[in-house]
Amino acid sequence: MRKLTGAVLATLLSSTLVSAGPVDDELVINNETEIVTRTAAPAHVADVLDEVMSGWLFRGTETRAMEMDDFDNPGMIFVEQAEEQWNTADGSEGKSCADCHGASTEMAGVRPVYPKYNEEAGEVRTLEMQVNDCRENRMGAEKWKYTGGDMVNMTALLASVSRGMPVDIAIDGPAQSTWEQGKDLYYTRTGLLELSCANCHEDNYGNMIRADHLSQGQINGFPTYRLKNTKIGRASCRERV
Ligand code: HEC
Ligand code: HEC
Repeated sequence: MRKLTGAVLATLLSSTLVSAGPVDDELVINNETEIVTRTAAPAHVADVLDEVMSGWLFRGTETRAMEMDDFDNPGMIFVEQAEEQWNTADGSEGKSCADCHGASTEMAGVRPVYPKYNEEAGEVRTLEMQVNDCRENRMGAEKWKYTGGDMVNMTALLASVSRGMPVDIAIDGPAQSTWEQGKDLYYTRTGLLELSCANCHEDNYGNMIRADHLSQGQINGFPTYRLKNTKIGRASCRERV
């Protein structure tokens, strides 16, 4: 089985296209916000990677340029829509996000620490779960569809106000078992091709797979605008496998 899987992957990884490493380039947004795109691997992945690298380093020149300027970045339209939503009252309590939280910029530092353990609820919450908890229990509003447009836009707004801050998710203490479940999933072979996430994103980053330049699958820049379907999308790769 192992052999066959390897052969399938070898066929997928185009032999005609040269494998190319990440580019050597600096990401500075709007000429002011420096984004770290390479850093030494933290202890929990140090046995498999030397460096963790943003997917931005694996994109072409034009795509990289788009992310460097909010006027050129088509994803920012969705961030603006979320900003309107942030200030709009909804639900039986007649409250907007801003009524409790102030300006959206007050949320700087929140995205980088999610998913996060919520003491009171006794669960690890994704940012989406937290937003829906506020909608349901604090606003008396309908939950948003987890992967729907309103939710993706709102998480994009929350991410945009934290640009430049390092991802800093606690994976110890009460979050540890959740992290371990995720790690198991990451290394489990699944789908038609019987591949694990790691088979592509750990073993083969830098290689071309069909027309795609395989990255490490880091999600520090998500949600992201997809040129193919002209809207922003969450980090999701299952459909490729
Ligand atoms: C058959 C190979 C393959 C497998 C297996 C695979 N991916 Fe991917 N993934 C890709 C390709 C190709 C892309 C687009 C190019 C890139 O950024 O790597 C991608 C993109 C991503 C991205 C976006 C990266 C960016 O910077 O835009 C994330 C996150 C991701 N994958 C996570 C996962 C996870 C989690 C799994 C396991 C559930 C997985 N992938 C399994 C091929 C794969
Ligand atoms: C009635 C007041 C109220 C409204 C309206 C409200 N929230 Fe909250 N929100 C809270 C409280 C209180 C917390 C802290 C809850 C906790 O820790 O369990 C919170 C926490 C959060 C957090 C996590 C912050 C952190 O540091 O972990 C996010 C993100 C958030 N809210 C987003 C939103 C969004 C988006 C909206 C609008 C759709 C919204 N909230 C509307 C009261 C509100």
